Amino acid sequence: MRAAQAVILGTTENLGYMSGALKDFFDRCYYPLLDRTEGLPYALYIRAGHDGTGTRRGVESIVTGLRWRAVREPLICRGDWREDFVDECRELGMLVAAGLDAGVF
Ligand SMILES: Cc1cc2nc3c(=O)[nH]c(=O)nc-3n(C[C@H](O)[C@H](O)[C@H](O)COP(=O)(O)O)c2cc1C
Repeated sequence: MRAAQAVILGTTENLGYMSGALKDFFDRCYYPLLDRTEGLPYALYIRAGHDGTGTRRGVESIVTGLRWRAVREPLICRGDWREDFVDECRELGMLVAAGLDAGVF
């Protein structure tokens, strides 16, 4: 993580919050990364059956503490499954890669 130029966070929304896996990632990395990754560009996508706001709030409060920088609004793939969620996530990845390539982040 300390060597990363940017990070894309992805999670489902479960019980109004991020997945246990993403929370575990933050639990293990928060203090080792604090004050060492300030300004790190990040993007977030959330797969939510019907909401996504609790997860967004939870992630944003943690990354605010880390002082990471959002490269765009979170992508929330909400509702019944649609194949174009995959395209939207792919575009998000391309946006981050292209931004890094172009040196805009
Ligand atoms: C235990 C459990 C809790 C869930 N809680 C929420 C929730 O609080 N808000 C929400 O929008 N979706 C919730 N969901 C729906 C999941 O976000 C959704 O099932 C997951 O993103 C995978 O969806 P898919 O398999 O249709 O892609 C929950 C699902 C499970 C299994």
